[in-house]
Amino acid sequence: MKKIRKAVFPVAGLGSRFLPATKANPKEMLPVVDKPLIQYAVEEAVAAGVTDMIFITGRTKRSIADHFDKAYELEHELDMKNKHDLLKLCETVPKHVNCIYLRQAEPLGLGHAVLCAAPIVNDEPFAVLLADDLIDAEPPALKQMVDVYNYHRCSVLGTMNVPREQTRQYGIVSTLTQEGRVQRMTGIVEKPAPEKAPTTQAVVGRYVLTPQIFEHLRNVQPGAGGEIQLTDAIASLLKEEAVLAYQFEGTRYDCGSKLGYMQAQVAFGLKHPDVGAEFAAYLKQMNEKAAG
Ligand code: G1P
Repeated sequence: MKKIRKAVFPVAGLGSRFLPATKANPKEMLPVVDKPLIQYAVEEAVAAGVTDMIFITGRTKRSIADHFDKAYELEHELDMKNKHDLLKLCETVPKHVNCIYLRQAEPLGLGHAVLCAAPIVNDEPFAVLLADDLIDAEPPALKQMVDVYNYHRCSVLGTMNVPREQTRQYGIVSTLTQEGRVQRMTGIVEKPAPEKAPTTQAVVGRYVLTPQIFEHLRNVQPGAGGEIQLTDAIASLLKEEAVLAYQFEGTRYDCGSKLGYMQAQVAFGLKHPDVGAEFAAYLKQMNEKAAG
């Protein structure tokens, strides 16, 4: 029985919704309070038992590799000054974890980015995490999905219900039944218009996939936006094997949008051990002022 040991992080996107912040810096390095988005995603993968992190990167993404590497001078300096708490924060990834970086030379779409990982993933089931979907959950969302995978032994997509007017932003799934967290899928379509969407159950950026997906990715034609879509390959995979939609427990923040990113800052700021209490007091004061 093959365990989920590998996770793919497609991080080659342009991040144009966050310009100018993302002109020279990757959007995945935007911090929520004090931790970059990509680190939240990697920690979620570690918590699900993943040991090999495969980053599909592009130009201007070098700081992601630096972030998970040793920062020799900084760490040496902190060590000399006995700042062990800060030194601990520099350990961005546990020692048993391997980080592998591949460049996606052309932005041909999410499906293409995942296909770039095929020579490293080989014939194992694996996870895909989109770092701009930040999910606050306990147990972490990917861990919940890996448990579902271990039980059912087939691909699992993380989903949530969205307002109908937002279906154009997501992959939307159809399922056999509408009940329970785990549902057998009957179809999936990328970014349908609200009036055409079969349901309002949307895929968020968490996938557990069987390696058969690669064969389908090799064969799909460019879809929505002229890109090779992971959604289209999953629709094709569905004709051959079962795929499950799993409505995870937890709160998802769309950190690919300014509003979602700001909401995440507030939620994670309020929970932060250093600043949470003061931040709560500040927000209360703001509310009182606004109420006059
Ligand atoms: C991608 C996927 C889409 C999914 C979404 C989740 O879209 O193509 O199916 O619902 O991530 O965030 P993107 O947000 O990259 O346009």
